[in-house]
Amino acid sequence: MKKLIIKGNKELSGEIHIGGAKNSVVALIPTTCLTKGISVIKNVPDISDVSMLITMMEYLGSKITYKDEVLTIDNSNLKVKPIPTEYSSALRASYYFMGSLGGHFKNAEISYPGGCTIGARPIDIHLNSFKKQGFKVTEKDGTYTMTAKKISGGEIFFDFPSVGATINVMLTSVLAEGTTRIINAAREPEIINVADFLINMGAKIEGAGTAEIVIHGVKELHGAEIEVIPDRIEAGTYLIIGSLLGKNLTISGVNREHIISLTSKLQDAGVKLKYNKDKIIVNKSKNLKAVNVKTSVYPGFPTDLGQPMSAFLTQCKGESLFEETIYENRLRHIPYLTTMGAKIQSWEKKAVIIGPAQLKGRKVKATDLRAGASLLVAGMIATGTTEVYNIEHLLRGYENLVNKLNACGADIKLIDY
Ligand code: UD1
Repeated sequence: MKKLIIKGNKELSGEIHIGGAKNSVVALIPTTCLTKGISVIKNVPDISDVSMLITMMEYLGSKITYKDEVLTIDNSNLKVKPIPTEYSSALRASYYFMGSLGGHFKNAEISYPGGCTIGARPIDIHLNSFKKQGFKVTEKDGTYTMTAKKISGGEIFFDFPSVGATINVMLTSVLAEGTTRIINAAREPEIINVADFLINMGAKIEGAGTAEIVIHGVKELHGAEIEVIPDRIEAGTYLIIGSLLGKNLTISGVNREHIISLTSKLQDAGVKLKYNKDKIIVNKSKNLKAVNVKTSVYPGFPTDLGQPMSAFLTQCKGESLFEETIYENRLRHIPYLTTMGAKIQSWEKKAVIIGPAQLKGRKVKATDLRAGASLLVAGMIATGTTEVYNIEHLLRGYENLVNKLNACGADIKLIDY
């Protein structure tokens, strides 16, 4: 097990470069299973979810090299095999093998995907869509088997614009017979990144990034290249930290269009941001004022930034209302923030955060990836030393976190316990 030891209240200056987006790359890697060609993915972050996906791809027969953030995947010996539970349970994105192996081989077998325990996280929208396209889907002891004689196009309406289901249905549709329309599709930037990769592979897709995606099935795809978009959640987390501790802290390699929901909230709270091409320069702001934050689907405020943002709100004067709308269990970090001195009243998926409160270093536990990010922010602004246990969660999503922050003046150690 690993923990972070954070000595708080250190001013940060210098530059933090943002890596490739976790939620894109974890879809782009399984996407390559749609071809037996050679694909190249650039700007691949060195995070543990990527290592796990490389292991899964090698298990399926791929030859992989990963050097200087470039992942080369040779699928000439790719075979469809049941994916063992120890792999699928390691990360949520293992469900993309349903779409890619199912789309290519018309059959796939995989157990229920893992990921953070932030809610029930059903996959009914994925499964219902596969069935509509002609797959027979069965479940036994948590393992799903899907087989089809023919994958058909048609209209698929989502009750909720699920990110995972949107990508998965794109994966099963690119080689389907006829045209598929996804109505009420998710619009997250990661979906455009995956659609661009599929288009580079020879797929015909229109409307990715809008609520209606149209996919005209083609006979075959070939290997292709793609660059992973910058991680908007990593960028957002460092902007939040910079707003509390920065002295001309530069966050570089950012696509600012992707994080307007965050930057506008920070500015409403009194944070001054300077933009220079793909860089955002941020300074510690005095006299922050309370703002209300409600998470929602893109382009709304991302649920993955809600938890780190709640730590920011503890420093804003007045009462901020924080509301989570996507997952049931996104507030499990709140008791730890309270232990550290934050004044928070929470119920169901809402919290009133009363600030500013001086946080104090304590021993706390990361219950999930973004809860870990929230406690990181809290520890960095607290007086004294904070120890964050169970930090493996955080390492799944943030590349080289400790070195990136320490290079700018933070005092953080990552140690085994
Ligand atoms: C992805 C991201 C995750 C992010 C989330 C929302 C990855 C690997 N993970 O997760 O970091 O927090 O988008 O931006 O990209 N739902 C159903 N049935 C389904 C599918 C989803 O009810 O079949 C519900 C979920 O329980 C949840 C909501 O829809 O309440 C959002 O889920 P979804 O958009 O699918 O998120 P993920 O793809 O799991």
